[in-house]
Amino acid sequence: MNNNKTLSLSIMSGKGGVGKTNIVLNLGYALHAMNISSLLMDCDLGLANLDVLLGISPDRNLHDLLQSGVDAEDILVSIENGFDMLPATSGVPELVEMDEDFQDILFKKLITLAGEYDFLMLDLGAGISHTVLSLASLTQLRVVVVTPEPTSLTDSYAMIKVLATQYGVKDFLVLINQAANAKEAKLTFERLDAACRNFLNIELRNLGFVHQDRTLVEAVRHQTPLLKFAPQTTASKDIVGIAKKLLRYREDNLKRIAGRPILKNFPSE
Ligand SMILES: Nc1ncnc2c1ncn2[C@@H]1O[C@H](COP(=O)(O)OP(=O)(O)O)[C@@H](O)[C@H]1O
Ligand SMILES: [Mg+2]
Repeated sequence: MNNNKTLSLSIMSGKGGVGKTNIVLNLGYALHAMNISSLLMDCDLGLANLDVLLGISPDRNLHDLLQSGVDAEDILVSIENGFDMLPATSGVPELVEMDEDFQDILFKKLITLAGEYDFLMLDLGAGISHTVLSLASLTQLRVVVVTPEPTSLTDSYAMIKVLATQYGVKDFLVLINQAANAKEAKLTFERLDAACRNFLNIELRNLGFVHQDRTLVEAVRHQTPLLKFAPQTTASKDIVGIAKKLLRYREDNLKRIAGRPILKNFPSE
């Protein structure tokens, strides 16, 4: 029997550098401001950078969880009260191509901790490695971050196709990032959605968009989350809107969430 309250989601993209890490971090911030707790897990195991965006360098990370005697709580970093993260580490090859045994150890160790939060968000690496795709197939929701660039669109399509055909995953939320305006965001969504409908028979759900905003680049330079650096800037307001949508989804689906494990294959009891 499951009795979960945690909504798990993967933030993913076909192409790197589209804004996943900034979005996940700021979504966590926005939720925190609404008194909603979240746990971010840096799953970009090759090039971790949640810690860089926060300007911190944690002593321990996911790699240490493989050692006996280390628990998820031991590597937990508090960003704000009720808003925590599990740091990864950059450049450790066995983490990039994580085998099933490692995944098992990792998730068994973190599942109880994750159950204490309203949201568990996995910041995945870009691309279509087995590690990324299998992690994405475990969460309750998947948010595909796409920019209006043609390469982002084609890479997103390729990623959705592999997840659908090889992992049986058919439900995706799309978040358009770095859009010049609402029209460009809408067009981008419609292009990707049309390709997925025509060739994969999949309908995408539009989670909304975040404007291209130079203030975000400045926030990154200051190693401060955008919502803290400039809460009134356009991209901050966009992200707050998306956080509210996710929150509404969680509230509307509490019964469903309670009836299934936080991560598929990893029941808490
Ligand atoms: N909405 C945005 N407006 C302007 N620049 C952005 C935006 N989102 C992302 N960027 C730029 O893209 C860079 C990469 O973002 P990041 O979150 O690290 O991407 P990812 O995690 O997908 O690799 C940022 O450092 C910033 O320069
Ligand atoms: Mg990233």
